[in-house]
Amino acid sequence: MERQRILCVGLVCLDIVSVVDKYPEEDSDSRCVSQRWQRGGNASNSCTVLSLLGAPCSFMGSLSAGPVADFILEDFQRFCIDVSLVSEHAQCASPASVVISNTSSGSRTILHTNRNLPDVTADDFSKVDLRQYKWIHWEGRNADEQVKMIERVMMHNSKLPPQQQITISVEIEKTREPLYQLFPLADVVFISKDVARHFGFHSAEAALRGLYSRVKPGAVLLCAWAEKGAEALGPDGMLIHSDAFPPEALVDTLGAGDTFNAAVIYKLSRGEHLKDAVTFGCRVAGRKCGFHGYEGLR
Ligand code: FRU
Repeated sequence: MERQRILCVGLVCLDIVSVVDKYPEEDSDSRCVSQRWQRGGNASNSCTVLSLLGAPCSFMGSLSAGPVADFILEDFQRFCIDVSLVSEHAQCASPASVVISNTSSGSRTILHTNRNLPDVTADDFSKVDLRQYKWIHWEGRNADEQVKMIERVMMHNSKLPPQQQITISVEIEKTREPLYQLFPLADVVFISKDVARHFGFHSAEAALRGLYSRVKPGAVLLCAWAEKGAEALGPDGMLIHSDAFPPEALVDTLGAGDTFNAAVIYKLSRGEHLKDAVTFGCRVAGRKCGFHGYEGLR
């Protein structure tokens, strides 16, 4: 069997996006340009982009029940994303974000809530048939459980020749201490500007040089830095840079980081060079910022 699927583990939520052309004043009552529901969550967004790029992919995460969950499931289907590993928690509330998307600056202001929906556990993950995946990506969340999931994949890999092993990637986006235990576990580690800054670094280059000792031997560490593009550092110690590819007009930056991650994973999973993967990541993320949502990547 040709293992070709990419699995992303993490959040799916509802994004209620209000598009404005001027950021509202506090305690004002104004009209927005448009408003829409969109499937969101980092891992879910990365699946959308992977699927649009033509990579068969699966999403693993939790979902509640009801109209919001139905909307989300239908949308996964629209993008041909496999949801057979989604676990339903009918008694829980759906996580949701209210997003103010400002077309005059491209900024996205997110107010997120997640009341009681539990993340997937190592026990849920123990039921996954690993044989169909060539790559598994974790959005860093419930790190203690995610460590156990990754260890299971490492165990699985240890019995296989290198070309049949599953590549492991993680995204460390939030500045939460427990997430940092994911650094040494993955082959590919994405860190955010926030995390870089949290460690006291003022550029992607400084962050990669300063944090590389935390990743495992042979791993790749990447950091995207909005309009400055992105950097990557691999085992040869050569820093790789790509400029950003900003669209003519910056329209919507919601999910730009998730798009970058997906595009990099797409290229690396096809055996392409890190330089090409980083450049492609910046290109696709840049393009995405030129329109609302992800559909324009088709
Ligand atoms: C974008 C995003 C949104 C979601 C929020 C959750 O990266 O995944 O889709 O509302 O972040 O933090």
